[in-house]
Amino acid sequence: MELLEAMRLRRAVREYLPEAIEEATIRVLIDAAIQAPSAMNRQDWLFVIVSDRERLASIAARAKAFMLARLEADDGPEEARSMLAAPDFDIFYGAPVLAAIYADNPDPMAEQDVCLAAQNLMLAARALGIGTCWIGFATAWLNQPQAKRELGAPRRAKAVAPIILGRPTVWPPARGRRDPDIRWLRG
Ligand SMILES: Cc1cc2nc3c(=O)[nH]c(=O)nc-3n(C[C@H](O)[C@H](O)[C@H](O)COP(=O)(O)O)c2cc1C
Repeated sequence: MELLEAMRLRRAVREYLPEAIEEATIRVLIDAAIQAPSAMNRQDWLFVIVSDRERLASIAARAKAFMLARLEADDGPEEARSMLAAPDFDIFYGAPVLAAIYADNPDPMAEQDVCLAAQNLMLAARALGIGTCWIGFATAWLNQPQAKRELGAPRRAKAVAPIILGRPTVWPPARGRRDPDIRWLRG
C-alpha cells in the first residue's frame, strides 16, 4: 500500500477479531516505528508489548478504574466519565495486543519522538491490514510506578502512546476532517 493511501485509510479501530498478531509482524511494526526521526537521534523510546490476554484484560480493567477515579476527582468531561462508568466498556476493545510506547528520557523531546514512532507504527500496521487505536484512557495508569514495575519499564520512563493492535472486524469509515486553518505567507 502506498504511504499516502495508508494515511488516508488508517482509522481508529474499535472492533477486533480475536486472532493473535504474530510476533514477526509486531517486530516489523516496531522496526517501522524506530525509523521515525528523534531529537539528536537519541531514540529514547521503549516498547512494552502485551499479548497475554489475561494480563491485557487485567490492565484494561485497572486502567479504566484508575482513569474514571481521576476524572471524577478532577470533575473531568462528562462524556468520558459516562463511557468509563459503563460496566461493559472495554478500553482496549478486545484487541489482542497492546504496544505501550514509553519515552525513556525525561526530556520533553523524547515524548515528541515517541509520538512520531507511534504514528509510523500505526501507518505501517494499516499497510499490513492491522488496525490500531491510540488509547489515551490508559496513559495515566501506565504511568503509575507499580504499573511500570509490572511491565518492566524503568521508573524514569513516561508512558506516551498506548496503541492497541489487532485485525479489524471491519474498517470503520473515515470520520472526516475540517478544512485546515492555514496562514500562508507568500513572498
Ligand atoms: C492522543 C490520543 C488519544 C486517544 N485516546 C483514545 C481513547 O482513549 N479511546 C479511543 O477509543 N480512541 C482514542 N483516540 C482515537 C481518536 O478518538 C481518533 O483518532 C479520532 O476520533 C479520529 O478518528 P480516526 O483516527 O479514525 O481518524 C485517541 C487518539 C489520540 C491521538
